[in-house]
Amino acid sequence: MNETLKAIKNRRSIRKYKTEQIGEAELQAIMEAAIYAPSGMNQQKWHFTVIQNREKLAKIADMVKQNMLKSGIEFAVERAKSPGFNVFYEAPTVVIITADEKAMPTELDCGAAAENIALAAESMNIGSCLIGMAGFLFASGKAGEIKKELGIPEGYKFIISVALGYKDIENPPVPPKNKDVINYVK
Ligand SMILES: Cc1cc2nc3c(=O)[nH]c(=O)nc-3n(C[C@H](O)[C@H](O)[C@H](O)COP(=O)(O)O)c2cc1C
Repeated sequence: MNETLKAIKNRRSIRKYKTEQIGEAELQAIMEAAIYAPSGMNQQKWHFTVIQNREKLAKIADMVKQNMLKSGIEFAVERAKSPGFNVFYEAPTVVIITADEKAMPTELDCGAAAENIALAAESMNIGSCLIGMAGFLFASGKAGEIKKELGIPEGYKFIISVALGYKDIENPPVPPKNKDVINYVK
């Protein structure tokens, strides 16, 4: 199996990280991989906020938790109540991916970028986890203020985030992957 296929198959969602920060050269390679992702009509209407400040990450994780508790959405409330809950699993680096609200649908563009981030990380044995629940960060009246503080461009909305860090865990087993979802027409 070639290295690309190995990275694709070995990548698992990692939910336990070492406290040590990832290397700067590794981070730059990961973020370059992000912006090399395809986008519809090459619109590139995405933005990446890379957060490595530990206090800020802890504050953001707590805001997400509080918003989940207040959400009234059963699964979110239950998750937030679980002991030691931290939406980013205390990863030392988090990338928040946002996109221009007025652009053509940007979810696929940002999804491709997020997967590039995860695969580039895996290729250097760095753990990652896509975190959709971080969207709760913007689920309060303070969303505008938070976006400003993080330098998210005006008119950009949350799409997905990616936690990154050295793995403090063996790669988890492959979760069930449905094989009967492919139809070949030859
Ligand atoms: C759009 C999206 C959102 C996700 N959000 C979360 C999340 O908020 N928290 C989490 O722990 N995992 C999240 N995941 C990771 C999935 O749970 C994980 O990819 C899935 O269980 C398959 O496991 P694998 O990534 O190890 O193959 C998300 C994945 C995707 C694609």
